[in-house]
Amino acid sequence: MARRHLFVCTNARSSGKPACGANGSTQLIGEIQRRLVEEKASDVLVTPCGCLGPCFDGPTAVVYPDGVWYGTLTVEDAPGLVEHLISGTPLDAKKTEPPGSS
Ligand code: FES
Repeated sequence: MARRHLFVCTNARSSGKPACGANGSTQLIGEIQRRLVEEKASDVLVTPCGCLGPCFDGPTAVVYPDGVWYGTLTVEDAPGLVEHLISGTPLDAKKTEPPGSS
């Protein structure tokens, strides 16, 4: 079982509504995966997923089981997200409130 699991929204849509997939989330996942291999982190996972809800704050992601949500992510956030996955220390600068909590 994975110690931590990061889900990153890669949703795309043609309606013109904001979507994480058009804002670099696929590149972010690639960089995270590259760094996890480099760190030999075999007990954490990163998985692309569909819409998580807060589309206007995308790219959006969530780490389980911690329940920590992230928004406005860029590929430059990959090191901080990898740090969270490995050590459990969140990337405070990009944390957001869970959808529906405010
Ligand atoms: S499109 Fe990514 S949260 Fe909705």
